[in-house]
Amino acid sequence: MLRYFTAGESHGETLVAFISGIPAGLDVDQQFINRELWRRQQGFGRGGRMKIEKDTAHFVSGVRHGKTIGSPVAILLENRDWKSWQEVLPVETGDPEKHKRVASPRPGHADLAGALKYNFPEARYVLERASARESTSRVALGALAKLFLRGLGIEVLSHVIAVGKASLANADVTWQKLQELYGKEEVLLNCADPEAEARMRAEVDHALRTGDSVGGVFEVVAHGVPPGLGTFAQWDERLDGLLAQAVMSLQAVKAVEIGTGVESALSFGSSVHDEIGYSRAEAKFTGFTRASNHAGGIEGGISNGEDILVRGYLKPISTLRRPLGSVDFETREPVKAAYERSDVCVVPAAGVAAEAMVALTLARCALDKFGGDSMTETLRNFEGYQQQLKRF
Ligand SMILES: Cc1cc2nc3c(=O)[nH]c(=O)nc-3n(C[C@H](O)[C@H](O)[C@H](O)COP(=O)(O)O)c2cc1C
Repeated sequence: MLRYFTAGESHGETLVAFISGIPAGLDVDQQFINRELWRRQQGFGRGGRMKIEKDTAHFVSGVRHGKTIGSPVAILLENRDWKSWQEVLPVETGDPEKHKRVASPRPGHADLAGALKYNFPEARYVLERASARESTSRVALGALAKLFLRGLGIEVLSHVIAVGKASLANADVTWQKLQELYGKEEVLLNCADPEAEARMRAEVDHALRTGDSVGGVFEVVAHGVPPGLGTFAQWDERLDGLLAQAVMSLQAVKAVEIGTGVESALSFGSSVHDEIGYSRAEAKFTGFTRASNHAGGIEGGISNGEDILVRGYLKPISTLRRPLGSVDFETREPVKAAYERSDVCVVPAAGVAAEAMVALTLARCALDKFGGDSMTETLRNFEGYQQQLKRF
């Protein structure tokens, strides 16, 4: 069973990522994992923090001689900013004078709800854990999941389909185009169409100029997924439900859509459902083909062999340089909300973090289906299933 946790505070010494259940014998390509971490740090509209941090995964357990050994994997991800924070957030009592309070909660952030819940007089500790710096750990774990999935021929990438009011006219982007985007050394807004990307950039520029922030929509595409992951047999085993939770659990994601779910809800069935054909020549897993993929590769909570499409809708960042009204935690007087160095737009980065969550979810479902304590065993079981599909 694949299980994973993260720990760490935004300005603490390190982030920690932990995963158990990855079969033994998986090649761990650290360069690939570090590139995934780099991808999460890119995008036009990021704050100064991303210039300080150069994330790298430091494996401390579960990997020996370049391969997983079946025991739990623990990864440390150093926060370079810790140097400036160790007196502010010491593990020991430290000097209370050096503490940096978050004196007035930011509307939209976790500050007020978190302070009330944990009975803190202000929101420093809340911010420290609620911050999306945490998603770095998930990207490290997701990169491991991607390496596992690669063995099964499954790949996961993302692209941006809207920033603020600027959106891609045609979000039907080919897999090859997504690979080109992945290969880029400079990431602006990770949009497949340069004209749309220029309009998206203008939205971010506007937010930067006016002390505002802007959200948007990303789409994660999982390519090469065999039919049969997830099941309708029990409500909490449905692949669509699992993906929705995985992606919704990312900071600032406020809606998740599978395929063209939202538009489909507003259309007639005849224009929504993906007609079925059959052609031996096109067989990857089976000869069944689809005329379209509005379902986003999932029917009945089960992958159907088409690309899996998951969209995440991101609210605008809640830390504003031109802050909204709030209340001082101590005096209860009206004040402006706290401001701390912040991103203005994170849609491409959120897409990368969502790739990680999709990869972890698919890896979990693949392991549920194929099992295996070693990659040899998992791949043998997968091969047997592929033969069964071919014979169907
Ligand atoms: C990659 C990424 C980076 C983020 N960076 C910031 C940031 O710099 N400032 C901020 O206020 N919120 C940022 N957020 C969003 C907050 O973490 C999030 O809004 C907050 O934790 C409250 O959670 P909620 O929006 O899910 O309710 C970021 C989110 C993501 C996905």
